[in-house]
Amino acid sequence: MNSPKFSVRWLQFMVMILSISVSSSVARIDIPRLSPTRGTILEQLDLLSSAAVSNDLQTFYYTQTLDHFNYRPESYVTFQQRYVMNFNYWGGANGSAPILAYLGAEGPLDDDLAVIGWLNDNAIHFNALLVYIEHRYYGKSIPFRSKEEAFKNASTLGYFNSAQAIADYAEIIMHIKKKLRALYSPVIVIGGSYGGMLASWFRLKYPHVALGALASSAPILYFDKITPTGAYFSVVTKDFREVSETCYQTIRKSWSEIDKIASQPLGLSTLSSKFQTCNPLTDSSELKDRLGLMYVSAAQYNQPPMYPVTVVCGGIDGSEKEDILSKIFAGVVAYRGNRSCYINPPTNESETKGWRWQTCSEMVIPIGIGKNTMFQPDPFDLNSFTKECKKFYGVPPRPHWVTSYYGGHDIKLILQRFGSNIIFSNGLRDPYSRGGVLENISESILAVSTANGSHCLDILPERETDPEWLIRQRKIEVKIIKGWMAKYYADLKSIQTIGFQAEH
Ligand SMILES: *[C@@H]1O[C@H](CO)[C@@H](O)[C@H](O)[C@H]1NC(C)=O
Ligand SMILES: *[C@@H]1O[C@H](CO)[C@@H](O)[C@H](O)[C@H]1NC(C)=O
Ligand SMILES: *[C@@H]1O[C@H](CO)[C@@H](O)[C@H](O)[C@H]1NC(C)=O
Ligand SMILES: *[C@@H]1O[C@H](CO)[C@@H](O)[C@H](O)[C@H]1NC(C)=O
Ligand SMILES: *[C@@H]1O[C@H](CO)[C@@H](O)[C@H](O)[C@H]1NC(C)=O
Ligand SMILES: *[C@@H]1O[C@H](CO)[C@@H](O)[C@H](O)[C@H]1NC(C)=O
Repeated sequence: MNSPKFSVRWLQFMVMILSISVSSSVARIDIPRLSPTRGTILEQLDLLSSAAVSNDLQTFYYTQTLDHFNYRPESYVTFQQRYVMNFNYWGGANGSAPILAYLGAEGPLDDDLAVIGWLNDNAIHFNALLVYIEHRYYGKSIPFRSKEEAFKNASTLGYFNSAQAIADYAEIIMHIKKKLRALYSPVIVIGGSYGGMLASWFRLKYPHVALGALASSAPILYFDKITPTGAYFSVVTKDFREVSETCYQTIRKSWSEIDKIASQPLGLSTLSSKFQTCNPLTDSSELKDRLGLMYVSAAQYNQPPMYPVTVVCGGIDGSEKEDILSKIFAGVVAYRGNRSCYINPPTNESETKGWRWQTCSEMVIPIGIGKNTMFQPDPFDLNSFTKECKKFYGVPPRPHWVTSYYGGHDIKLILQRFGSNIIFSNGLRDPYSRGGVLENISESILAVSTANGSHCLDILPERETDPEWLIRQRKIEVKIIKGWMAKYYADLKSIQTIGFQAEH
């Protein structure tokens, strides 16, 4: 099937991409968390439970309100929401020492505890309490008693949205501050990708709860038509072309080669054996989608020291065989490593269900493939997207709600005169960076980008091999946040002095 209609579907529903990769010097390569290749990560379980996860984490549950925005009896239903704290570095309530709060994104919190290094790495500079909060409907924070019930239909999924999620975060942070008698401890919220969007929106909606936000790789402008729909794939293409012109050319020509073979009798079985697929291909789009997924994952998570795009192109350019598809397959092997089979290993759908609902309701990120990329053109088509979503859930998406509720259009004009204390960090090789805030908007709404960085790179754990530009990016972030805190403590002191004088 060469119908372009849904071939970007893998991107919309599956990769999403809006997730942090597991990074490891052991693992061959980094894989997006919600990708169909989740299996790769499962092989790295040793990594998840290893050094990166500190023994000092304590898990708690908060009795959360299902629906923060209505007063009907059913809104008062509660569920248990998981959060995790690390008190090791905290200066304590008495000195109003800070709180760094990680806002969970579209996945179980467990993975993030290992891969979000920024909090642990910087806690000592701030004498901070570390808090990590899980997003509702993920991991162990499931309403309606079971995942099965919660995901039953649009009636139960209806409470699964970003406004409810950040209201959850506000309640939990206020609860923690009250419990610890840390009412004046400044809170910095931190998030990456979708979680980065939540962090920036949290600062705008709850300025009384968070002093500031670090929003890493947050594509808050990839909604409506603020960012051109083709931007994402243009960057993927650019990433590959900059590494190797011949690699780019080979990939660009490979799609029609696949189509040509697929159209021949027994073509699919030829392709299946050529790519050593785990299961016989049922359609050439299956192969094309998985290859596409590999290229976008490599580009999005193009991290040092391996630089996956360089790895893939090394395979493609270094192939001993001359024909295009053998070269492409060599790229697959270079990226995946030696395996018994490739392309379509069994996947676990249940991992991607949550994000599918989110994209089908609120998080409509209209990514399409324009002309002049190394992919076959495949424009975003809202009508067919809507039809698909209605088929799944019976309700249509609301593609304009994010910008109605949080803004986004003319962001510089608007946020110059409203809001403060947000860092938008990006790596410009991350295809999502094109939907991010890349300009300084005001004195304290700042863009901190690196030319060669990838998705959420700055908030991953520090490593020996980190290049100088990455170390510098993190240092700038810490310095900016320290500045916000210094000002806050000065204001707090002067207010408390005045209050003290008034009382006496
Ligand atoms: C808290 O701070 C006050 C004034 O700074 C000090 O007198 C008091 O001893 C401190 N309490 C604790 C438990 O550290
Ligand atoms: C969803 O399931 C619940 C419980 O079975 C039911 O009461 C409700 O009517 C269903 N909603 C929709 C939209 O089908
Ligand atoms: C993969 O297998 C090939 C041939 O069997 C071998 O030459 C190569 O070293 C292997 N690569 C890795 C990374 O194990
Ligand atoms: C899929 O993932 C879910 C949640 O992580 C797990 O409970 C389930 O056993 C997995 N299913 C398979 C077939 O691996
Ligand atoms: C924004 O300001 C910060 C802090 O001064 C600076 O580090 C950064 O380079 C600026 N960003 C841009 C895009 O100019
Ligand atoms: C980014 O990478 C390119 C190619 O590897 C290199 O030429 C360039 O100097 C790097 N830029 C920075 C700012 O490090």
